[in-house]
Amino acid sequence: MTILIRGGTVVSATGASPVDVLIDGERIVALLEPGSTALGADLAGSAERVIDATGKYVIPGGVDVHTHMELPFGGTAASDTFESGTTAAAWGGTTTIIDFAVQRSGERVQDGLADWHGKASGNCAIDYGFHMIVGGVDDDSLKAMDELSEHEGITSFKLFMAYPGVFYSDDGQILRAMQKAQGNGSMIMMHAENGIAIDVLVAQALARGETDPRFHSLTRPVEMEEEATHRAIMLAKVAECPLYIVHMSAREAVEAVARAQQAGANVFGETCPQYLYLSLEEHLSAPGFEGAKYVCSTPLRSRDDGHQRDLWRFLRTNDLSVVSTDHCPFCFKEQKELGVGDFSKIPNGIGSVEHRMDLLYQGVVTGEITLSRWVEVCATTPARMFGLYPQKGVIAPGSDADIVVYDPNGKTTISVETHHMNMDHSAYEGTVVDGKVATVLSRGSVVVDDDAFTGTKGHGRYLKRGLSQYLR
Ligand code: URP
Ligand code: ZN
Ligand code: ZN
Repeated sequence: MTILIRGGTVVSATGASPVDVLIDGERIVALLEPGSTALGADLAGSAERVIDATGKYVIPGGVDVHTHMELPFGGTAASDTFESGTTAAAWGGTTTIIDFAVQRSGERVQDGLADWHGKASGNCAIDYGFHMIVGGVDDDSLKAMDELSEHEGITSFKLFMAYPGVFYSDDGQILRAMQKAQGNGSMIMMHAENGIAIDVLVAQALARGETDPRFHSLTRPVEMEEEATHRAIMLAKVAECPLYIVHMSAREAVEAVARAQQAGANVFGETCPQYLYLSLEEHLSAPGFEGAKYVCSTPLRSRDDGHQRDLWRFLRTNDLSVVSTDHCPFCFKEQKELGVGDFSKIPNGIGSVEHRMDLLYQGVVTGEITLSRWVEVCATTPARMFGLYPQKGVIAPGSDADIVVYDPNGKTTISVETHHMNMDHSAYEGTVVDGKVATVLSRGSVVVDDDAFTGTKGHGRYLKRGLSQYLR
């Protein structure tokens, strides 16, 4: 099918201009100056479908490089399936996710990967790729890292300095995995929190009777993120491998990333909407057990200490390169409730795969970031960071026609009543934001239009990724 998106302002990571976009089948085939050429008029006439984007932005579909669909975790499993999660993502203008396949200690990496393909295959509404969590670094899993990066299109591996006994790796294991990444060119993604020390603080807090959700943050102080981030950077320096620190919430930790970047290292930082908008004081400390909705790791930080303000600043200065969601949804009933009377048993995670584009657009509205930076941190850089560019993350001839028509004059209400994620609550309940997703295309198919989902499960294809294209 040929589609012409006419009359809108195409926004890229470098600017914005009035351009019409012609799509043939799954790809973008031409960018046309509106109304100025006979060619444009001809194409408008012959296109099988014309989407009127007058007064709207036309942006590359969002690329969310950190999701956990169906993740078994914290004594339960993340509540979105690949079907519900990718459908919700499409509703919110995200057209690519990279989810984390899991290898646990004692399991084969290849089996963990096969398990994840089994969950996702035939169920996704948008395109998807995988990172691999290596939860047990040993000779076999190290060998598998080569196999996955060479043959399976998995060029990034997540390690954990947190969660002892679950996904935790010690420094020796981390160094060995980093040396392997150095050899095959892949990226190490790090959950940077000192899990061994945190477990001591957690046990001490519980022994004092400090059981409320807010103690989740108080037992994971900034220093635990800062120290682990610094340690990961030092280990990556020794191994000479690229390093991407996930879900950063503490200013002091991002400062360590900034210092490494200034020294020329391939070290990158990611943050998430929850760290830009939600806080220890206003959310995690909510009365009763309400704060459980906001338990995630790294934890929400103190608003009074200025972390949110500084994370926005780091986004402007590119010390933080990417905003992903770390979408890890759990229902309040029966899932978050596992931690009533013991915050350490609350499953860690917040779901927001549907709202990242809207939430970050608020940063444009309030002047925190520019329109182009919005597109850059939500689509272009994540695609480049994880080897998907220019297939994804840009509106250009030859790229996949993953496009969002975004109405800056619309409004979006974020609520459990209206969202499409499989969650019985919303971390942003009742928030009304400026801007609204009008139309979403995934590889040339209209999957959301005029407040209706028109996509299908199974449309989404597995993406074999290349190496990071963001390295210095
Ligand atoms: O709280 C979080 N972040 N849950 C998901 C697992 C992880 O560490 O990314
Ligand atoms: Zn993590
Ligand atoms: Zn995560």
